[in-house]
Amino acid sequence: MSQHKVILKNIFYTYPDGKKAINGISFEINHGESVAIVGSNGAGKSTLLLSMVGILSPDSGDIRIGDLAVIKKNFSTIRQKIGFTFQNADDQLFNATVYDDVAFGPRSYKLSEIEVKKRVERALEIVGASHLMERPPYKLSGGEKRSVSIASVLSMEPDILLMDEPSSALDPKSRRRLINLLKDFTHTKIIATHDLDLVLDVCERTIVLGNGQILADGSTQKILNDGELLDRCGLEKPFALQSCPICSKR
Ligand SMILES: Nc1ncnc2c1ncn2[C@@H]1O[C@H](COP(=O)(O)OP(=O)(O)O)[C@@H](O)[C@H]1O
Ligand SMILES: [Mg+2]
Repeated sequence: MSQHKVILKNIFYTYPDGKKAINGISFEINHGESVAIVGSNGAGKSTLLLSMVGILSPDSGDIRIGDLAVIKKNFSTIRQKIGFTFQNADDQLFNATVYDDVAFGPRSYKLSEIEVKKRVERALEIVGASHLMERPPYKLSGGEKRSVSIASVLSMEPDILLMDEPSSALDPKSRRRLINLLKDFTHTKIIATHDLDLVLDVCERTIVLGNGQILADGSTQKILNDGELLDRCGLEKPFALQSCPICSKR
């Protein structure tokens, strides 16, 4: 299905203070692919994701989601296709209650309140946050905010999930729930993360960024098993691939 293909061609982005954060990035992601974007702090992951949803406008280059260029006149259509979660959940939650935050997307589709309620209840249940429904988001813990911000995109039933550090601040049970929901989501997933064990579980393909450029792009198994590459990129093998220090001494 070409309508959900994600295409980036030669993207450059410079912050207003002159910091060149993206320095010529191109890739294509097909419908249904599950792709991790990894790289050390400051590699450009968040800047790239913010450009893909039109929150930041690249200096040059082309970004297309399906047939649509990511430009102002297409923002509302594109944001219906892409469920984006920010690195900082506080950027996502701005309503008086959790219910209203998770209802915000479905309401913008002009769905009936009955349908909105169904979607809110379903999304909160998936992330294990039904009990938070009436709470003001600003009073929640970091992990609770993260779960609610994920629910607020699931309720939009997007074609593409674009998530920035989705497992940060989650407790182990919530993280496992996130991994399961990502595995169940069969459309396109693009996940920027430091959580390489999650990557190993969820993403078939990994793109490694460094200094706003692509350092590697290929199969997750191959990249996460390449200790020398990971070392060069400031990353560490996921725990699941590290040999046991006691056994390996024998
Ligand atoms: N608002 C900003 N103004 C100036 N520089 C920024 C801003 N946000 C991020 N940067 C810089 O851009 C680079 C890429 O940052 P970012 O995309 O947040 O990286 P990552 O998400 O991989 O940690 C870093 O050097 C960071 O310091
Ligand atoms: Mg980031």
